[in-house]
Amino acid sequence: MKGIILHGGHGTRLRPLTHTGPKQLLPIANKPMSQYALDDLKTAGVVDIAIIVGDVYPEKVKEYYGTGEKFGVKITYIYQDAPKGISHAIRLCKDFIGNDKFIVYLGDNVLRKNLIDYTKKFQSSDADAMILLCEVDDPQRFGIAELDKEHPGKIKKIMEKPKDPTSNLAVIGIYFLTPKIFDIIDNLKPSLRGELEITDALDMLLNQGNKIEYDTVTGWWKDTGTPEDIIHANKLVLDSIGTENQFLIDIDSKIKDGIVIGKNTEISRDSFVTGPVIIGKNCKIGPAVRIGPYVSVGDNCILKNCNIENSIIMEDCTINAKVDFESSIIAHGSEITDNDIPKKHQFLLGERSQIKL
Ligand code: DAU
Repeated sequence: MKGIILHGGHGTRLRPLTHTGPKQLLPIANKPMSQYALDDLKTAGVVDIAIIVGDVYPEKVKEYYGTGEKFGVKITYIYQDAPKGISHAIRLCKDFIGNDKFIVYLGDNVLRKNLIDYTKKFQSSDADAMILLCEVDDPQRFGIAELDKEHPGKIKKIMEKPKDPTSNLAVIGIYFLTPKIFDIIDNLKPSLRGELEITDALDMLLNQGNKIEYDTVTGWWKDTGTPEDIIHANKLVLDSIGTENQFLIDIDSKIKDGIVIGKNTEISRDSFVTGPVIIGKNCKIGPAVRIGPYVSVGDNCILKNCNIENSIIMEDCTINAKVDFESSIIAHGSEITDNDIPKKHQFLLGERSQIKL
C-alpha cells in the first residue's frame, strides 16, 4: 500500500501564521501537524509516501522531511501548481500509485486513533474505497455521508458542505482508495467553488455501482482549519501525552505528571508548571512564570514573569512581560517584552496580526 499526504493549499484562514510557511508545518504539541499524518501512515506499515506540495514555501516542507529517511519512510514530492481540489491533487499521483491500493491523508487532519485496524480491513477487503466517518455538530463545514436506511451498512450519498445537511456524519480527511478513482476523477467537473472535490469523486464512484465501505471514528478527530482548531488540537493531543502519544517525547526529555521537558531546559524554583504541558529543548523558564495546563513551548524559548494557559509558543520566542496569555498562538522568533513607558503599549506587528487587549 502507498500513501499520499496533501501539503498544498493556501491556508488563508490561518493568516498571518501562513505568511511564512504552509499551515501543515504549524506545530501541535511541538510536532508539525503533517507529521501526525506521516507517523500514522508509517505505523500502519505505509512507507512509500508522496507529499503534494503547493506554492506556499514548498522548500520548507522538503527541508523538514527530506528524503524521509530520518522518519523511516521514502518520500516523493509532487508539485500542484494551484489548489484545484483534493481530487486534482490525487490525480497528479497516478504514476506514483501504479496498481497499488493507497491512503490519502489531508495534512491538516489529526486523528487520535492510529490507522492499523482500518488499513488491515481495507487491505483484505474487495471494496473500491473506504471512508471514515465522524459525528459532528456542524456538518455544514465538512463533506458528509448519508447512510442508506433501507440497506444497513451502505452509503446512499456523499456531499461536500451541504447547506441543509441530511446527516451529521462528516467524511474525515483520510481516504482509502484504489486506482479506480483515477478514471472517475478524469470525468469530474469542478464544483461551485472551482475545485475537483473528493466527495464528488466518491459519490460518482458510488453511483457507478462500485463498493464503498465505511467505518466510524472512535476517539477524536480534528480538522485544523482555524487558529481555534489548532489550539483545540493542541489540547486534545496534550491530553494523551505520556500515554498513547509516546512518540512526542524525545529519548532525552524528562516526563512527570503529564509534563514533558526537553534537554537543557531550566525552570526556576519560583515558577510553576501544571500539566499537560510540553516544553522543548534549551529553554529558560523563570523567574515568576506559570505555565499550563495545555501549553506547548518550542525549543530555545526564554520566558519570564508571564502566565500562559491553553496556548502554543513556537521555537525561539522571548517573553519577558507581566502578561496573562490565554488561547494564544505566538509564532517562531516572536519577542514580547515589558514597555518602559507605564500603561502604554508598543507594537511591531506583521501583516494581519491579531491582538485582543
Ligand atoms: O477535513 C475534512 C474535510 O476536508 C472533508 O470533510 C471535506 O470533504 C474535504 O473537502 C476537506 O474540506 P476542507 O475545506 O477542509 O479542505 P481544504 O481546502 O482545507 O483542504 C484540505 C487539505 O488539503 C489542506 O491541508 C490543504 C490540502 N489541499 C487542498 C486543496 C483544495 C491541497 O494540498 N491541494 C488542494 O488543491
